[in-house]
Amino acid sequence: MRSGLWIFGYGSLVWRPAFPYRERHAAAIDGWERRFYQGSPDHRGVPARPGRVVTLLPAPGRRCVGVIYRVDDDDVDETLRALDVREQGGYDRVFVDALRTEGGEVVSALLYRATPENPNYLGPASIEVIASRVLESVGPSGPNVEYVLRLAEALRAIDADDPHVYELERVVRSRLSGSRA
Ligand code: SIN
Repeated sequence: MRSGLWIFGYGSLVWRPAFPYRERHAAAIDGWERRFYQGSPDHRGVPARPGRVVTLLPAPGRRCVGVIYRVDDDDVDETLRALDVREQGGYDRVFVDALRTEGGEVVSALLYRATPENPNYLGPASIEVIASRVLESVGPSGPNVEYVLRLAEALRAIDADDPHVYELERVVRSRLSGSRA
């Protein structure tokens, strides 16, 4: 058993962890799906006009692919302190079993999940409506568009199957290039 803490990332943590880690692997969690249903008043939008970022919804029979990171014991406290601040806009810590997609190892991993009860939750909307909000939102961490495009690219790089993210990426790209979605 290797020491340290495993952290599962499925959103910005896939492409911008911003903490030190020993190992990084593609991994899957069963019974969850990724959705752009969380409002971001502090990173990819502002309180009066929150952007849209991902959270996880329970989804029996579904699988969400992301990334696990192994953080050294010495770095765990500082990493969690920083992540608690970064994810303070509605996300809670949860432990899940994560399956490495190569090799089949299962580890207990911490993730940050925003439930529908949190005050910044925006909930379901059509891909067209989500894309409109993404295209008009900018926050202290940058444009909401960057979040969508970088997440889609990072998920493609680990062979993650996620029609919700890729369809949003397609609509956003097509509107950016001026063609009809
Ligand atoms: C995550 O990436 O795992 C949490 C949500 C986010 O920060 O985008």
